[in-house]
Amino acid sequence: RGDPRLEAISEAIRVVPHFPKQGIMFQDITTLLLDPKAFKDTVDIFVDRYRDMDISVVAGVEARGFMFGPSIALAIGAKFVPLSKPRKLPGKVISEAYELEYGTDCLEMHIGAVQPGERALVIDDLIATGGTFSAAIRLLERVGAEVVECACVIGLPEVKGQCRLNGKPIYILVEPR
Ligand code: PRP
Repeated sequence: RGDPRLEAISEAIRVVPHFPKQGIMFQDITTLLLDPKAFKDTVDIFVDRYRDMDISVVAGVEARGFMFGPSIALAIGAKFVPLSKPRKLPGKVISEAYELEYGTDCLEMHIGAVQPGERALVIDDLIATGGTFSAAIRLLERVGAEVVECACVIGLPEVKGQCRLNGKPIYILVEPR
């Protein structure tokens, strides 16, 4: 899209072959976090996009959505809400299951964290099948929030072409290398 910052962001993401298992090219954003310029540019791109969209909640997906979401939330004056893996949150939760390659997993959100009518951004590091974002959207919609957009740093080209997920727009910075 011609933003010169995107190339450096892409290059700061380490690709680890065969992690966590054979055949997976793992996109490791911890090396992006080690590069203060690329890390800040990443957050700034999201902040510039969302600051005037009247978003009151940034919902981050465990674990790597937690690494970008709070900075974005603070900068745009929104609250941060964790969407967590099972049995991590101490309060009363609602849960949504989603499909994995083998079996299912679940995301949970504290009841009362988000009010009906709130405008939400969902943030994660990466979209592959979209199953995780779909569960996140369902959680937020169950409590009456409006999901304005889902955003992530890395998206497969197939997904990047789509631009929508469960009818919601999806915003992606870079493709895997
Ligand atoms: C990765 C990634 C996303 C999800 C995307 O997390 O951080 O959350 O997969 O995949 P999808 O679009 O096919 O749903 P993972 O499930 O590996 O969990 P982790 O954060 O515990 O490593």
